[in-house]
Amino acid sequence: MNSFPAVDPIPLPAPIWLFKLLHIVTLSLHFVAVEMLLGGLLLAVLLSTRSAGSPAHTAARAMGRRLTVVMTYVINLGVPPLLFAQVLYGRALYTSSVLIGAYWISIIAILTLTYWLLYQFSFRLEAGKSAWLVGLLAWLGCGSVAKLLSTNMTLMLRPEVWRSMYTASGAGVYLPKSDPTTEPRFFLMLCGGVFVAGLWMIYLAGRSTFAAEDKKFLAGFGGKVAVLFGILYIAAGLWANSVQPAAVKAGIASHPLYHLFGYAAYGWLALVGVAILLGAAAGFGRITAGWLGWAGALLTLLFEICFTTYRDAIRDVTLLTKGYNVWDRVVVTNWSVVGIFLVLFVAGLVIVGWLVSVVARAQKPMESAA
Ligand code: HEM
Repeated sequence: MNSFPAVDPIPLPAPIWLFKLLHIVTLSLHFVAVEMLLGGLLLAVLLSTRSAGSPAHTAARAMGRRLTVVMTYVINLGVPPLLFAQVLYGRALYTSSVLIGAYWISIIAILTLTYWLLYQFSFRLEAGKSAWLVGLLAWLGCGSVAKLLSTNMTLMLRPEVWRSMYTASGAGVYLPKSDPTTEPRFFLMLCGGVFVAGLWMIYLAGRSTFAAEDKKFLAGFGGKVAVLFGILYIAAGLWANSVQPAAVKAGIASHPLYHLFGYAAYGWLALVGVAILLGAAAGFGRITAGWLGWAGALLTLLFEICFTTYRDAIRDVTLLTKGYNVWDRVVVTNWSVVGIFLVLFVAGLVIVGWLVSVVARAQKPMESAA
């Protein structure tokens, strides 16, 4: 029996391909910010335990200061893909969200507390006080939000368990039992986080606000972390792919569109491989050149786009095997609204670019300990 609720009779106001394109682009950007937060905070907590004034402590302070800003990007870049996902997958996503309702709504409270803890972490580091405990609590908050999102994004693909969950309780107080994809999926995000944080440290090593000794530490430590966690990231990716049901793998291979999306997995593998080599150059050669950091940033953006594209293929084919075709919707495009949206979208990007350029041109104080 088909467990998906009936389709909303109101047609979609824009082509499905446009929603998908915007969804993949904005979700990739959300993932870049998420990985910086999850991995960067963990490394900053670890490094904050070293004595004040040491290069490790300086690195923790610099990352802690930036993480409060990263958090704003995590949240603001999370809203657009949430809206696009609801439009495209509402019948699956709303159902799974209601089934874990109590946990799902708690994300708002956890986020608020986490944000406050993140500021406390940074303030304590600036003041030379012990900060690892608040930092760790903030990280646990971020990890819980990530786990709940991962749980919901997996549950939306499992209509076969919805009925029994709802029968057990309609109050949304139960979490689903894990399926074979749950753990590798979460592990993949965590490894990716520490990997991206390593690349971020290589980027920081190229900034002029650090003294030579601190730059060498940032490049050496960040590079080695990127190598180790890059390898784990690839292993986790292969694991997450291997546990996909045979019907999903076969569906991707035989579908005209998702077959093409499947190449994104090779792109991801190649780009992560190059980023690991970059990490090795920085980590073992202790190279602090600015271009290396920018190359790492570009690679990160590209492999996140590949990752999100392939993830999208897995979701669509999984849903297809269960009777949900994301392309099967009535579309009545309202081009004037689409036009206004695109103009505002581009204008928003230009304004953010301008803000970033103002920050880049601003005179910055030295971040190294005097
Ligand atoms: C501490 C804050 C956050 C963290 C650590 C975080 C982490 C994550 C992770 C790990 C995933 C991937 C889950 C998976 O597929 O396994 C994810 C997906 C997602 N996140 Fe976030 N997130 C955060 C905040 C937010 C916020 C505030 C929003 C929205 C307002 C949001 C929207 C989304 C959406 C829509 C997806 C999945 C979209 C899709 O699959 O189509 N996130 N997030």
